[in-house]
Amino acid sequence: MFFEIVIAVIIGALAYMKWINTYWKRHGVYQLEPDLFFGNIRKTILGKTSLSAGILEHYNEFKAANIKNGGIYHFMNPMYMPIDPGTIKNILLKDFNHFVNRGSFHTKEDLLSMNLFNIEDETWRNLRAKVTPTFTSSKMKLVFETLVDKTKNLEKVFGNYADSAEPCSIKDLLGRFTTDVIASFGFGIECNSLEDSENIFRKVGKKVLEPSLVRYFLMSVVNWKLLGLLNYKRGGIKASNFFIGLIRDAIKQRECHGVYRKDFVQLMLEQKKPGNTNENSKTISEKSNGVPKPAITDDEITAQCCVFFIAGFETSSTVMTFTLLELAQNQDIQIKLREEIEAVLEAHDGKLTYEAVSEMKYLEMIISEALRKYPPVPNLSRICNKRYEVPGTDIVIEKGIRVQIPIFGIQRDPEYYPNPEVFNPENFSEENKAKRPDFTFLPFGDGPRKCIALRFGMLQAKVGVLSLVKNFDFKLNNRTVLPLEVDKTSSIMSLRGDVWMDVKRIS
Ligand code: HEM
Repeated sequence: MFFEIVIAVIIGALAYMKWINTYWKRHGVYQLEPDLFFGNIRKTILGKTSLSAGILEHYNEFKAANIKNGGIYHFMNPMYMPIDPGTIKNILLKDFNHFVNRGSFHTKEDLLSMNLFNIEDETWRNLRAKVTPTFTSSKMKLVFETLVDKTKNLEKVFGNYADSAEPCSIKDLLGRFTTDVIASFGFGIECNSLEDSENIFRKVGKKVLEPSLVRYFLMSVVNWKLLGLLNYKRGGIKASNFFIGLIRDAIKQRECHGVYRKDFVQLMLEQKKPGNTNENSKTISEKSNGVPKPAITDDEITAQCCVFFIAGFETSSTVMTFTLLELAQNQDIQIKLREEIEAVLEAHDGKLTYEAVSEMKYLEMIISEALRKYPPVPNLSRICNKRYEVPGTDIVIEKGIRVQIPIFGIQRDPEYYPNPEVFNPENFSEENKAKRPDFTFLPFGDGPRKCIALRFGMLQAKVGVLSLVKNFDFKLNNRTVLPLEVDKTSSIMSLRGDVWMDVKRIS
């Protein structure tokens, strides 16, 4: 009898899974055939394909079937995947009110999870308005000098390699550089992991970002409220306490000891001052019990500084690594870039100013092309919070259904980028940009929920790359194992092995 019951349960479960996997068919949407339990992500979950390669595969299957938008499954969760730029524009921008959230893990008990990336609806809108003034172009001008200052260490370390004629691993060095930048801007500390790779900030930071199947499973399957009650912290209890302690100290230093630094902590603290107004923040004049509410609280600042680290460190080092990799393999592009840098600096009396960087158009084209060919974030997520009829179709996206926008597929599509495997900065000439439909270049996302630090991300990559190319010549060293492989365990599009370079000073 027991045996019969077990068999019946197994058959019932299998039938249920099969039925779940027909969600899109039942809703009149073209779907890619899923595997049982894994849905369409078996190869990615089992580490056989990288996330980006998996996305490209799905995109190309829809494209080959001449389908504009289709359905896939992550395990047994139906996901809508639009590949038509018009539909993508509607979801990210025009009909944003149906797709405000990402559906990512956050609980009040895990303070650091209450950050801009994760939080939802009105809480997100209010906080976004409070944090937006930190990243305006005038604020970028303010932090520019500190950023240039940070590149001095980078130049020094690369100079040591050049002088010793030893090859250097650029992926590791650039990771340390962006760690130092974000530690300085986001936490107000000088950690100098460029010269001290065992630095505690770098060690804890790397640990927080390590991919974990257990974490992914917990957050996808277990109720978040229950995780909160169990005191679950996404980054681990030790790392959470470490980061919270750092920010609280930084805030105390500024408020009690009058320390002033040109960084994000300071810029957000400015939003706390009574009487501070900015056109983006409606909450500033809000009152509770007749007492004006602070525009931003210490807990909110703490959670944001931490997400700046998580969202900013690896994305930025990755784009710089891929840029240098391509420059080393395309010497003509590297030489042309150096010529531009020299010409613009000469016109600015040799001074590296914010305005000078803005005039380096070829540099902008190169970084954009690196972001096109290797978008650090290969897909965007949204969750439908209000029933949505996809314009021009009979398709209805129901509340609770997730949407995945395949950035990597779009940016490798020959319809928009001829020879997409070739690194070609001319893809970003004014003429070629004008030929492409909108919403076909999405490395920072788009719409109200796009990357809040787009300007800073671009500036950091530009200043880092230009300070290196101005001073050094880069060639690929034969210790680099080609073809390079993308890390199959990472949600960021980063390289698996090291990228070894020979570096020579420009005489
Ligand atoms: C080249 C570097 C970077 C890239 C490619 C990048 C890319 C992205 C992307 C694709 C998103 C999701 C956008 C969407 O869903 O539409 C995002 C969101 C975000 N990024 Fe970045 N990012 C970069 C650097 C940074 C840096 C340096 C910071 C912080 C200092 C940062 C902070 C954030 C935050 C807070 C969000 C969430 C915004 C919100 O939901 O309101 N990013 N980023």
